[in-house]
Amino acid sequence: MTVAPNAHARPVVPSFSAVHVVVEKQRSGCIVVGAMGTRTLLPAAQALDVACGGALTALLKGGDLGPAVGATAVLYRPAGLACERILLVNLGKASELDARNYRKAVQAAMQRLKDTGATDALWCLGEADAKRCTMDWRAEQTVLAYGDTYYRFDQAKSEVAGKGNDRPAGLRAFKWQVASRAQKAAAQEALSCGASIVAGMQLARDLGNLPGNLCTPTTLADTAMYLAESHGLAVEVLERMDMERLGMGSFLSVAKGSDEPPKFIVLRYQGAEATQRPIVLVGKGITFDAGGISLKPAAEMDEMKYDMAGAASVLGTLQAAVEMALPLNVVALIPTCENLPSGRANKPGDIVTSMSGQTIEVLNTDAEGRLILCDALTYAERFDPVCVVDVATLTGACVIALGHVTSGVLGNDDKLVGELLRAGETAADPCWQLPLFDEYQEQLKSNFADMANIGGRAGGTITAAAFLSRFAKKYKWAHLDIAGTAWKSGKDKGSTGRPVPLLVHFLTHRAGR
Ligand code: BES
Ligand code: MN
Ligand code: ZN
Repeated sequence: MTVAPNAHARPVVPSFSAVHVVVEKQRSGCIVVGAMGTRTLLPAAQALDVACGGALTALLKGGDLGPAVGATAVLYRPAGLACERILLVNLGKASELDARNYRKAVQAAMQRLKDTGATDALWCLGEADAKRCTMDWRAEQTVLAYGDTYYRFDQAKSEVAGKGNDRPAGLRAFKWQVASRAQKAAAQEALSCGASIVAGMQLARDLGNLPGNLCTPTTLADTAMYLAESHGLAVEVLERMDMERLGMGSFLSVAKGSDEPPKFIVLRYQGAEATQRPIVLVGKGITFDAGGISLKPAAEMDEMKYDMAGAASVLGTLQAAVEMALPLNVVALIPTCENLPSGRANKPGDIVTSMSGQTIEVLNTDAEGRLILCDALTYAERFDPVCVVDVATLTGACVIALGHVTSGVLGNDDKLVGELLRAGETAADPCWQLPLFDEYQEQLKSNFADMANIGGRAGGTITAAAFLSRFAKKYKWAHLDIAGTAWKSGKDKGSTGRPVPLLVHFLTHRAGR
């Protein structure tokens, strides 16, 4: 099965264009229009209603549109119009239309649009005026909803079993109706930005969904090299020998438990003057985390294939940054290996020496993320970064603290943390700060080495970050714990592509856009 090499070569997003057209004259697979509650049609819906002899009003009168935000109704082949369908969406009471309800309505509309099987659409929900939500935001969020709804991962389903039989048609063209011609350029910009985010998320999701046997450290390195070649980036992949020379004893101690060769990926995007200091993004790339000798329980262990989601999101973010031509320099650092039990694996009590020279007592081999990240953080120093942000599925404790809704953020610079908090909020990819007070450092005390790699059950997410902070003293640094947000469990099991939206917004903001 040739799955992995295709992961990054898949054609993606349809064309998104901002238009200003006479809605009732359009031939379209589906025109998507809004109602505020069950009585009031928005202007585009009104225009269609008049042109088709009041069919939408009749639909409302008949009670076909439910009262809830996100309720939908479809009209097929409306008389007197050239479009195939009209999809009417309830955006709820005008007084209650905030960002949350807007997204809810958009997501519901997108799902219903997909169910119709239409291959092109004219989307007129931009005219609904959600509180404190700019037009740019509305356009971008619509594209993100497209990405969420239309994403599929069927690379590992076979033709023999009838792959493709249940495949929906998919969208080829998506038109976003703007309220006035003057808004076209700005809306187009927002749509393109959204499309880059969606493509970046898709890359991250594909890599995350690929299982450990098909997405190895070598696969991640190949993906980085592919990105470099196709987007004109500089790439360097350090091999075990290079890392030995650099003294990455902590990272290598995790890697040596596996037969897969570890890789240290350095991918560089230069969008600004060479003299401009770069932003460094570090992604945890454990392609499978069995826990090592401190073996994890069997239940749901398959989900540890997602333990490279930090790495995947950094790759997706870099791809988006290049596509958007952000005037920034960004360096992606990805330490990647497997964490397995074997005769050569780390043992509890082993002491390793990190690249920084600090020694670490490995009391639990399952706390491997910090062991690979700490050497990457030391390596980051050579870029004289303006700031460093690491992204990692680091602790189960973060899932307990924040659930699957919010990522954790900690750091040594409150301004940087604040930027990430705001980026998460505008991108609807939220994170929440946990404290990193000095007092937590005491939990990492070791009787035999400079520090232990675990700090006990209390404040697990914080002590993990406290550990990392010891390697991030020379620059402004923040850490995103995405253990709860990078994938979904249960019947909708799969990678989410988070926190690509957050990171892209962070970069866009840094770029002054
Ligand atoms: N990759 C895991 C963290 C994780 C756990 C992510 C569950 C998502 C869901 C990490 O390597 C790990 O095993 N962390 C340990 C640390 C502990 C031994 C201090 C954990 O959280 O249990
Ligand atoms: Mn682990
Ligand atoms: Zn892990």
